[in-house]
Amino acid sequence: MAKTPDLPLVGKITEALKAAPSEIRKALKGAGKNDILDPGYPYRQEIDSKTYDAKMDQLQLQLVRLMRDVVATRKRLVVLFEGRDAAGKGSTIERLRENLNPRSANIVALPTPSSREASQWYFQRYVDWLPAAGEIALFDRSWYNRGVVERVFGFSTEQQRNAFFRQLPSFEQTLVDDGIILVKLWLNVGRAEQMRRFLDRESDPLKQWKLSSIDVDGLAKWDDYTVAIRDTLNLSHSPIAPWTVIRSDDKRRARIAAIQTVLNAVDYAGKDSDAIGSPDPAITGGPELLD
Ligand code: ADP
Ligand code: MLT
Repeated sequence: MAKTPDLPLVGKITEALKAAPSEIRKALKGAGKNDILDPGYPYRQEIDSKTYDAKMDQLQLQLVRLMRDVVATRKRLVVLFEGRDAAGKGSTIERLRENLNPRSANIVALPTPSSREASQWYFQRYVDWLPAAGEIALFDRSWYNRGVVERVFGFSTEQQRNAFFRQLPSFEQTLVDDGIILVKLWLNVGRAEQMRRFLDRESDPLKQWKLSSIDVDGLAKWDDYTVAIRDTLNLSHSPIAPWTVIRSDDKRRARIAAIQTVLNAVDYAGKDSDAIGSPDPAITGGPELLD
């Protein structure tokens, strides 16, 4: 079989690694597959597969019940997945959705705004994708692009960002007032782990498509992201629309905590709170977890 041709960005990660801080390179060197790289993470190893699979099976059953209830009682559920590049948004969404009816639970992963969209009210194109009764919308990135990637890369002006943060509380309040259940998840990944995932994407022909120029150029902007993320969470963490921050260096623990958070946010027929359990407080909390 012919070899899949490499995409143009392949090689750029290995190149960027050379310029990365020495502690990142050190953390990656000799690390075992299941070792957690971030020394500040509360566990040294990924959760074992047996524990993970058993918990995930329980949660999947609850998700199916949740979906049945959403459809039967015409609820509308929005879950935002945010976080740095390679934080694990995509794969967490996949786990959450895998046993759900795609007609009821759909993923919203919008491309870069067209020039027409860029000239509209900023929230307008997202409004189009909000759920109708009986639907779950899983946003892989969201309107929070304005506070983070657009700031870091200068895709919008400071004036546009200020308007965004002015309008944001009433926008989210409006959704909640109208009966939408809004869950906001921020997946937080450490720098060495992000690099490990990018290297993995670069070397795996099945994952190379996930590499974008934003990923590559963003590597040198870690600290700019840190500032933009901190400001964004501080300005948007409110009682009506709070953030749940999940440390995602262990992607499996993060998936469990994310799904638990979603299940706990909704009242549904057949809900078994014991089976769901509480998200691990060592990796789950509010914006203070980012520090
Ligand atoms: P992803 O990580 O979601 O696969 P990318 O890494 O390519 O996507 O881009 C990150 C985010 O930045 C995406 O949501 C994308 O729409 C946004 N983005 C990229 N270019 C622009 C731009 N010129 N203006 C506004 N947003 C942009
Ligand atoms: C993620 O891992 O967070 C998503 O798949 C997307 C990304 O790389 O930005």
